[in-house]
Amino acid sequence: MEVFDDLAAIQDFSWQQLQQAPHQRKHPWRTPALASLEEAPTVGIRTVVLRRAIPTDRVLRFFTDGRSGKMKAVAAGHPLSWLFYHPQKEIQLRIVGWPQVLPPAAADEVWSQLSVAGRSAYAATAAPGSSSSLPSDSLPPDFFSRPLNQTEAARANFRVIDTVVHSLEFLQLHRQGHRRARFSWDADQAGWVGEWLVP
Ligand SMILES: Cc1cc2nc3c(=O)[nH]c(=O)nc-3n(C[C@H](O)[C@H](O)[C@H](O)COP(=O)(O)O)c2cc1C
Repeated sequence: MEVFDDLAAIQDFSWQQLQQAPHQRKHPWRTPALASLEEAPTVGIRTVVLRRAIPTDRVLRFFTDGRSGKMKAVAAGHPLSWLFYHPQKEIQLRIVGWPQVLPPAAADEVWSQLSVAGRSAYAATAAPGSSSSLPSDSLPPDFFSRPLNQTEAARANFRVIDTVVHSLEFLQLHRQGHRRARFSWDADQAGWVGEWLVP
């Protein structure tokens, strides 16, 4: 891959890749790490599936179980930090933004598109992270053989979380010279302000 020498090209490339990643099973940016403040000064970090990137709204979306630990940070409105790494291109993105829980009616619409397998991630009868005397996913035993309309109870656990991005930092390692750039959202100007940083 060529070395980046243009800030606008970096912005375009980053959002383009983020848009593509959810639709490409092997794209390394499909499964980023998401970090949030846990119990200060501890940070919680976990893998999530990037479900959607919406450049015009500056949004990155993931799905989760409303009973999961990360929801505390979301409910408190603490910023979320995303880490993406592309090993072939040697490009890292670090993205920070504010969480927004998608309103129920909009989440219903997303839910209606999910298959039984997709819904299973939200269907555990015990809360994620609770202790279990046996190795178990806590799913009702017949869950995967149910018709879609008998999986509605899991809707109560399903949450769609958007991150409204305010900072995107790009790092490229390259033989011709490393490149680091940061883009910050300027609310007054309603636009991104980009600058080069020393890698
Ligand atoms: C490949 C992979 C993808 C995952 N995707 C998600 C996801 O999209 N949403 C989610 O809440 N957890 C996802 N998880 C599970 C989380 O990493 C984490 O274990 C779980 O959400 C509990 O995290 P928490 O206690 O910090 O809330 C995924 C795990 C793996 C290994």
